[in-house]
Amino acid sequence: MLTAARNDMLTRVGRRTPMGELLRRYWQPIAGASELDAEPIKPVRIMGEDLVLYRDRGGRYGLIDRHCPHRRADMAYGWVEETGIRCSYHGWLMDEVGRCIEQPYEDIANPKPSRAGCDVKAYPVKECGGLLFAYLGPSPAPELPVWEPFTWPNGFREIVLADVPCNWFQCQENSIDPVHFEWMHDNWSGRQHGGNGNAAPKHLKLKFEEFDHGFVYKRVREGQSETDRYWTIGRVALWPNGFFLGSHFEWRVPVDDENTLSVAWFFMRVPKGREPYVQGRVPTWKSPLRDADGRLITSHIINQDIVAWTGQGRIADRTKENLRSSDIGITMMRQRFFAELEAIAAGNEPGGLVRSANEAQCVPLPNMAREINTEGITLKEIEQHPLLRRRLKEFVFHYGQPPEVRRAFVEAMGIESA
Ligand code: FES
Ligand SMILES: [Fe+2]
Repeated sequence: MLTAARNDMLTRVGRRTPMGELLRRYWQPIAGASELDAEPIKPVRIMGEDLVLYRDRGGRYGLIDRHCPHRRADMAYGWVEETGIRCSYHGWLMDEVGRCIEQPYEDIANPKPSRAGCDVKAYPVKECGGLLFAYLGPSPAPELPVWEPFTWPNGFREIVLADVPCNWFQCQENSIDPVHFEWMHDNWSGRQHGGNGNAAPKHLKLKFEEFDHGFVYKRVREGQSETDRYWTIGRVALWPNGFFLGSHFEWRVPVDDENTLSVAWFFMRVPKGREPYVQGRVPTWKSPLRDADGRLITSHIINQDIVAWTGQGRIADRTKENLRSSDIGITMMRQRFFAELEAIAAGNEPGGLVRSANEAQCVPLPNMAREINTEGITLKEIEQHPLLRRRLKEFVFHYGQPPEVRRAFVEAMGIESA
């Protein structure tokens, strides 16, 4: 249980709030690069800031104020030039560092045109693994960590976004909550398919450990032992707002205090014998949350998670909760956030930032699936694998995979479409 004031500290993300200042010190994934192929401008809202993301014709990414510095028109309705983005109202042109580089009529009418006061806020953007990451914090920006899975060849990757109408922190607490797999994903899925028992293997033992880039949770369930990778390696609650499960990442990126952009990145290695496989663009798609009747979709894994997150309210009221043994990891994570908030308030740098360019080139994480993803297994072995075999049949994580993404996946894997 937390006081309302402590809950506010964890959940408020605006500029100059403690958590807003913490999260701004880490690169945040905000879009898929392929989203900008058809339409090079995308309005985005991140941590309460309204911005416009674009790729100009010279290939530069920009993330600048949504409003033009002239008379505040919406830059999302502008267009991109060789350099920069142009406002459609009177043609002012902005570049990716936020400089106003053209004011067309002013440049004709005034022999000494002044750009004073016309710069806008602008944040750096980098592409990695098909994702676009932005940095909204103080200079100098840390290195963008290239997580090891982004370096893996021979895989089919896809990016799935979802607009989740609740605060980011309850989503992130789900990253360190092993017991919910047994109930939400196993037993509840069983019920949805007509089962009437709670037959999923029970959790018998949990362990949570801290490391440089977050926490690892480990578990033993019925039928497993301490030699199992779920116990010897575990899964990662990635600091500060991510989740890494061996073949996929999820980030919970705050849109504002009451909304979150769920950004998920998936990797599936092609079967042995299908290499080399070179993927062109990494597709990006948006998963819907509700069905035609307005009810939340409950059939897919992350959609189920979203039912839990949004069910906790726009901002979960932690003054009313009752934490127990399954929540030890959540308590550890909150304590680390409070410690880091104090460190920042004292003028120190929080943990988990990568400052060495060399180190940032490939950052390994504890990974139960490294061999499968780097060495590969045969199609027959995939068909017998307890988790991977389901992926051959359908995309189990998010509802709504577009048919063209499914077709590209089927082609990459060399399988007949189910
Ligand atoms: S408002 Fe943008 S150029 Fe005038
Ligand atoms: Fe889950």
